[in-house]
Amino acid sequence: MLQVETIANIQMELNPHRTPSPAPDFLSREATGPVRHLHESLKQYAPTPLVELNGLAKRLGVAAICVKDESKRFGLNAFKGLGGVYALCRSVCESLGLDHHTVTMEQLQRPENREKISKMTFVTTTDGNHGKGISWAAGLLGAKSYVYMPRGSVEARAQAIRDAGSAEVTITDLSYDDAVRYAAKMAEEKGWTLIQDTSWPGYETAPRWIIQGYTTMVYEAMDQLELLGYRRPTHVFLQAGVGAMAGGVTGALCCTYGKDRPKIAVVEPEEVACIFESLRQDDGKEHKAIGSEITIMAGLNCAEPCQLTWPILRDNTDFAFACPDAVSARGMRVLAAPAGGDRPVVSGESGAVTAGLLSLLLEREELRPFRDKLGLDENSVVLLFNTEGDTDPQGYRHVVYDGAHPLMF
Ligand SMILES: Cc1ncc(COP(=O)(O)O)c(C=O)c1O
Repeated sequence: MLQVETIANIQMELNPHRTPSPAPDFLSREATGPVRHLHESLKQYAPTPLVELNGLAKRLGVAAICVKDESKRFGLNAFKGLGGVYALCRSVCESLGLDHHTVTMEQLQRPENREKISKMTFVTTTDGNHGKGISWAAGLLGAKSYVYMPRGSVEARAQAIRDAGSAEVTITDLSYDDAVRYAAKMAEEKGWTLIQDTSWPGYETAPRWIIQGYTTMVYEAMDQLELLGYRRPTHVFLQAGVGAMAGGVTGALCCTYGKDRPKIAVVEPEEVACIFESLRQDDGKEHKAIGSEITIMAGLNCAEPCQLTWPILRDNTDFAFACPDAVSARGMRVLAAPAGGDRPVVSGESGAVTAGLLSLLLEREELRPFRDKLGLDENSVVLLFNTEGDTDPQGYRHVVYDGAHPLMF
C-alpha cells in the first residue's frame, strides 16, 4: 500500500512506478495521423484555443499557465466529441470497407454511403459529454443512436444530447458502471454497435479509437505551445473519470517527448478516485474506487478504470490527487476571472478541477510540501485541459454566481 499524504483535505500520492515503459505506439503523432485527417475534414473543425493566462501565472509565481479550451470543440462545449466522432466513423469504415486513412466526412455523407449508414444503430452510456458526441456524430451520418445515462443525471444534459443529433436518451436508475453494462447488453441483444469510452477484457477496439480521437487536442496543444515559444510543458495536470482521456494524453506526451516528458499529475474527485485507488493499492492492477460516488464532477464520476489506459497511467503518472468538490468549484471561479487582463475561460465542474488544484498548490502556504514535491516554481510551464464548458448551466451559475461549494480550509 502506498502512503497517501493529506493536506487541507487534498490527498496526494507519489507514484513509485514511474518507470517509463515503452511509449504506446498507437498514440504517436504518426499513428494518429488518420484521426486528425478525419477531424480536419469536418465543417465544424477548428483547433481549439490555447489560452495563455499570463496574469494568473505572474500572480501565482510560475512561468506560464496555458489552458487548452475544449469548451470550444465542434460547438459541443466539451472535448469528448473528438473520440466519439472518430470511433463512429472508423466503425462505419470497417463495415463499409472504406479506407480509414483517407476517409473524410464528405465521403461518408455521400448518398451511396448514407443510405447504408442510415440502417446502422449505435449505442452508448454517458454522464453527458461522450453521449453528446455520439448523438452528434450519428446525426451527421444519418444513423440512429441510443444513449443511456446514470441515475442522478441532470435533464439539461439529457436534452443537450438529444439536441446535438440523433439520440434517443434515457436516464436510468443505474450507476454509471452498471449503465455501461446495460448498454453492452442492449448492443448484444439488438445487434447495435456499442461505442463506449472505456474498455474491459474483450472490448477494446472502439475504446482504442476513442482514445486515439482524444489525441487531436494534445497534438494541437503541443503545436500551439511551440508557436508561443515554449519547447514543451514542464507540468501537465489531467482530470480522470475512467482515465481514458488522461491515459491517451499521457501516451501522446510519452511518444513525443520520451524521457524528457513533463511531470504528469492525474486529478480525480475524492469520492470516486479509481486511478488514485489503483495506484494506492500498489499491486500493478486496476481497482474500483472506494467512496460514495457523489460529486459535482459528473464527467469524472466513474468508479472503474479503463483497462486499456490503466497501464499507461500506472507506468507514467508522477502524481495522483483526490480532491473535494470545493477544489473544482474554486477552479470554475478562478477560470471565470483569472487575473490582470487574462481572458476568462468558462469551465464546468469536470473541466475546472485541475485549475482549482493548481491555484491552491501555488497560493496556499500549507500546501507548500506538495508544491515542492511537484517541483512547481518560477520556471514551470503548466498545461491544463479545460475539458468542458458550462454543460450544466444551472450548476455553473450556482457555483460561479452564488459561490456554492466554498473551500472549507
Ligand atoms: C468534461 C470531462 N472531462 C474529463 C472526463 C474524463 O474522461 P475519462 O472518463 O476518459 O477519464 C470526462 C468524461 O466523461 C468529461 O466529461
